[in-house]
Amino acid sequence: MTWGVCTKCFRHLHNMRCLVEEKEISQAVIGRLPRYYRYLKDLKDSGKERISSQELSRIMKVTASQIRQDFNNFGGFGQQGYGYNTNYLYEEIGKILGLDHVHNMVLVGAGNLGQALVKYLKFKKSGFNFICAFDINPQLYGQTIGGIPIRPLQELKDYVDANDVDIVVLTIPKSDAREVAHSLTRTNIKAIWNFAHIDLELPASIQVENVHLQDSLMKLSYNIHRNSISQDVDQ
Ligand code: NAI
Repeated sequence: MTWGVCTKCFRHLHNMRCLVEEKEISQAVIGRLPRYYRYLKDLKDSGKERISSQELSRIMKVTASQIRQDFNNFGGFGQQGYGYNTNYLYEEIGKILGLDHVHNMVLVGAGNLGQALVKYLKFKKSGFNFICAFDINPQLYGQTIGGIPIRPLQELKDYVDANDVDIVVLTIPKSDAREVAHSLTRTNIKAIWNFAHIDLELPASIQVENVHLQDSLMKLSYNIHRNSISQDVDQ
């Protein structure tokens, strides 16, 4: 067996073959990884050193086979009959999610939502580091939020090129979001975390994650509604 480390996924190679790189991992699997990561952090912090897929399945309320299938996409993380080493699994999933790197972020739109995001300290602990904010309101220029300066929007492009920015966080009205996002396509940013109420589509070199909190509320509303209908039927 030859050992090495894949430069893209940072997992160990088996016979110099990277199982992660060879396979196209579905977005559904990727979407489940943060949840595994959260649960494993709590398990690790509570002193749990080893966990079986059955036990993890009970805690997370997903089937053990789903867990094994998900992990098998990455070559599996456990030994038959031994279960998973919690700390190892937590760290490996963190590497797959790129959480062993610091990501510099800038905020565009230093209003209510933007300020709340910048002030949420846990992002920094996970390696998501806000370094500057931008706005079009001159009254905000020179002020700071959560220790970072607010600058004029006109300085955004030069700033991201000069400061190794990975992620731009957009918390501006939807009327301006597309234009600002497109102005960033000729920079070196890697992703946009978009909160404006518009689904952005950009060249493949820029990853976009559109976040719509209201979608989650609407789902909740549907479930409340469905629950009350089934209670009415039961009575
Ligand atoms: P806000 O009015 O408090 O803040 C918006 C800020 O963006 C202001 O400081 C304004 O000067 C600035 N701005 C406007 N146009 C700009 C531009 N072109 N470039 C840079 N800065 C610009 O609004 P709030 O409550 O912070 O919401 C921000 C946006 O996020 C809104 O469009 C809102 O609809 C959206 N939103 C989205 C949510 C989601 O789940 N996706 C949840 C809450 C708000």
